[in-house]
Amino acid sequence: MSETISSFLTQDHRNCDEEFANLENSVASENWTEVEKVFANFFADLQHHFDMEEKVMFPTFEERTGMTGGPTQMMRMEHQQMTQILSQMKEDVANKNKDHFFGLSETLMMLMQQHNMKEEQMLYRMVDNHLGADASLVITEMKDLERV
Ligand SMILES: [Fe+2]
Ligand SMILES: [Fe+2]
Repeated sequence: MSETISSFLTQDHRNCDEEFANLENSVASENWTEVEKVFANFFADLQHHFDMEEKVMFPTFEERTGMTGGPTQMMRMEHQQMTQILSQMKEDVANKNKDHFFGLSETLMMLMQQHNMKEEQMLYRMVDNHLGADASLVITEMKDLERV
C-alpha cells in the first residue's frame, strides 16, 4: 500500500513521542548537557511537524474543501498552545529547574496526546479522503520542507 497522509504523519507523531520520552528521561537523570541536546532535537522536530501541517497540509486541505474556519483552525491554535509551553520548558532547561519542567511536560504530554488523537482519528482521514491520489504530492512537499 502506498503512503498516506495518515500513515506518514502518524509515524511522525510516534517519532516525536519517542524524543519526548528521551527528553523526560534525560531530565530525570539531570544530565543537563545531554538535556540541552535532546531538547533542541525534540523542539526542532516538533516544530518541523507543525510546519509540515501549517505550511503544506492545512492550506491544501482548506483550498480543496473551502473549510478554513474548522478543524485546521483549531489545530493551529493547539500548536500555538504547545509552542508556548515548549518555550517555557526551554527556560526550565536553561535554569536546570527539574520540578518546574516536569509540571510543564505533564501538561504538554496531555495536550499532545489529545491533539494527535484528533488528527489521527479525524483530520488525517478527512484529508486523505479529499486528496485521493494527490496525497503523494502533498507528502513529497512536506518531506521537502526544511527543518529550522
Ligand atoms: Fe498538529
Ligand atoms: Fe500532527
